[in-house]
Amino acid sequence: MKDVILGLVGVGRIGVMHANNIAALNGVLNPGGINVRLRLTDVAEDHARTVAAGLGAEFLPSVEALLSSGLDGLVIATGTATHPELIKAGVDAGIPVFCEKPVALNVADAVSVLDYVRDNNGVVQIGHQRRFDAGYLEARRAFQAGELGWIHSLRAVTCDMAPPPVEFLASSGGLFRDCSVHDFDILRWLTGREIVEVYARGSNNGDPAIGEVGDVDTALALVTFDDGTVGTVSATRYNGAGHDVRLEIQGSRRSLMVGLDDKTAIASAEPGVGFPAGEPHKTFAERFDQAYRSEMEAFVELILGRRENPCTPEDAVAASRVADAAQESLATGVPVRVAQKVAS
Ligand SMILES: NC(=O)c1ccc[n+]([C@@H]2O[C@H](COP(=O)([O-])OP(=O)(O)OC[C@H]3O[C@@H](n4cnc5c(N)ncnc54)[C@H](O)[C@@H]3O)[C@@H](O)[C@H]2O)c1
Repeated sequence: MKDVILGLVGVGRIGVMHANNIAALNGVLNPGGINVRLRLTDVAEDHARTVAAGLGAEFLPSVEALLSSGLDGLVIATGTATHPELIKAGVDAGIPVFCEKPVALNVADAVSVLDYVRDNNGVVQIGHQRRFDAGYLEARRAFQAGELGWIHSLRAVTCDMAPPPVEFLASSGGLFRDCSVHDFDILRWLTGREIVEVYARGSNNGDPAIGEVGDVDTALALVTFDDGTVGTVSATRYNGAGHDVRLEIQGSRRSLMVGLDDKTAIASAEPGVGFPAGEPHKTFAERFDQAYRSEMEAFVELILGRRENPCTPEDAVAASRVADAAQESLATGVPVRVAQKVAS
């Protein structure tokens, strides 16, 4: 039986989830039952020791110690500002890297990472987990198989129940870069087309502190694709009914909605309709539990050479360029063309 040793940097909000998912992969990958072993580090040492102990993983005191311990792959789940240096360190160590989105705090820095990865033959998977969600996968399959006909409209929705701390919002880059970037990624991935123009509007009717740090609590972008197809991408921090992530794909032949099930956080206004009957999701971790597991499994498969890279840094930067255009449109009030160049 083969061992795959993963090193994880950062066991905060999302890193703990990845740590659990990696630990759960042990012995379940087929064919051949792969042993997946986890080593981890975090600057918050005590917390990291506790996480490691709880999962039977090994704690290492620094990124350097982790990288020199003989890893098969590096998983980066630290804050965005540290991603470029850690991606480069993983590439220098000659191992595949999984890094949470986004590649960097801004597109200019991200492009220098793309160049570095390309020049050093690095393999880097970026964490756009929706690409592994069963509903989005089915919508893409159906569209590619021609079952929907041609798409006339797309409506993507990402709603948090409540805002994260204002300190986080102050350094998040804005609602489109933080939340809607997942929708921009999935729209490119699903349609196979580029978004060429964005026209955005936003509002602040919740906590005034969000406006004071330069963000909006709710926003909507009208996006235009390179074949003229139009769609909308909306997001809010105040969806009290639950965490609501959906995509409506309306085709000339058939229409589909991703995220429409008994846990959808919206009720029918029609008398007598009991759907959806379940309890809505409360967090992104709940909504995308299966997708986060599948994404980590895919990374191990990538390390083993069993699959193509499911989300390249070039893909991630292309989505970030759309998010940048949306933020600029929000600030200027006019439609903004999306820069198409993905690397220098
Ligand atoms: N794909 C998604 O759905 C999704 C969801 C949430 C967050 N994210 C991304 O994940 C990343 C982390 O977000 P989070 O909310 O988990 O942040 P967090 O602040 O909760 O956790 C980050 C952790 O990294 C540690 N850390 C920071 N710098 C370090 C370093 N140099 N060496 C070792 N440890 C270090 C911190 O101590 C902390 O424990 C962000 O880039 C964010 O954009 C992605």
